[in-house]
Amino acid sequence: MLEASNLPLPSDAAREASDRLADQLRRSIIEQGDPIGFDEYMRIALYEPGLGYYLGNAINFGVDGDFVTAPELSSLFGASVARQCSEILQHTGGDILEFGAGNGLLGAHVLTTLDELSVVPERYMILELNPLMRERQLQTLQELAPHLLSRVEWLHDLPKCKMNGVILANEIIDALPVKIFRTADGDIHERRVAQLDDGFTWFETHAPEWLASAVRARVDASIIAGGSDYVSEINTSIEPWVNDLSRVMDHTVALIFDYGFTRADYYSRDRTQGTLMCHFRHRKHNNPFWFPGLQDITASVDFTALAEAADSSGIRVAGFSEQGNFLLASGLLDDAQRRTEKANDRTLARIAFETKILTLPSEMGSRFKVLALTKGYNASLSGFQLRDDRHRL
Ligand SMILES: C[S@@+](CC[C@H](N)C(=O)[O-])C[C@H]1O[C@@H](n2cnc3c(N)ncnc32)[C@H](O)[C@@H]1O
Repeated sequence: MLEASNLPLPSDAAREASDRLADQLRRSIIEQGDPIGFDEYMRIALYEPGLGYYLGNAINFGVDGDFVTAPELSSLFGASVARQCSEILQHTGGDILEFGAGNGLLGAHVLTTLDELSVVPERYMILELNPLMRERQLQTLQELAPHLLSRVEWLHDLPKCKMNGVILANEIIDALPVKIFRTADGDIHERRVAQLDDGFTWFETHAPEWLASAVRARVDASIIAGGSDYVSEINTSIEPWVNDLSRVMDHTVALIFDYGFTRADYYSRDRTQGTLMCHFRHRKHNNPFWFPGLQDITASVDFTALAEAADSSGIRVAGFSEQGNFLLASGLLDDAQRRTEKANDRTLARIAFETKILTLPSEMGSRFKVLALTKGYNASLSGFQLRDDRHRL
């Protein structure tokens, strides 16, 4: 991992935008009369309208941006996801709703594959917070799926009515704000954010009781009692996110893809510095205070927390698997094989490369997981036929 001081310097205009966001963060700290929680810092840094990383005026996704997601890497991802969607839609009918659709590639690949399978959803809804990204998604869909564009609809909020069909969320939960805690010698502290003359810094206080008990519920008592520092995160936004999901689900399956762990692995003894990570132009580092608004800030997903939140809002956890196994069970190799017919050497090499990155445990295959949440849906889900690890949650 890089030191933030070794990162390339952003442009003058980008640094000016970051200065404006830093002013906004300082105002927030002054208004509170106290350092702010890291979740509040992360919310402003990522989602402040016009300035936050995801709501600013730059497109950060893809090869020319800061990170590449599975749909950017290969259309094999969307084609396999579409096979699972096709099975679901045959039972439920209805629509697909995608959260935060990035460059629009997942939507394009899912729709074109469903078209080939003759199971096109009535509507493909995209819940996108950033108007600039909406334009980018429209361009992608115009280019790759023009004949299906009439079915695509952009939303600013979740639908008011319940829906039937599929909900897709790829790399959404890792972008939700988290609290940070540190524990040692039996004490549990919250790491908050204070201002300096030229930036921001960590500021520790005793964790409020609700946070301390959330930490105790997740982290082994011997780690908390131990003499070494143990720093990690708790995603406080998962419960409201899942509750919102529950409100719109009728006969519906939500497929949630992200990097993360079961709780036991997340808060393992060895993971002493948590999972907070920042991305800027394909470089990873761990300083969230570096030019706020210009870099992505993420934390891995505690899939057990997602499953618990689902449980308490009346949603069934219907499958959990490493992403590689899910994609293989959803026909990724058949798709890859079909694409190799008539392919030249270069294309063959590309298909082999994409297949490996998506499925190998040492690449995206294991670190990324898929969780299926269902309401009003009792049929099986083929994507979990190869392996279903729900017992590990
Ligand atoms: C890492 S990006 C993933 C983009 C895309 N899904 C992909 O795979 O390329 C995270 C996205 O989640 C979006 N996001 C976070 N919370 C959201 C919410 N409540 N509704 C819709 N999008 C959300 C952010 O705006 C951002 O675009």
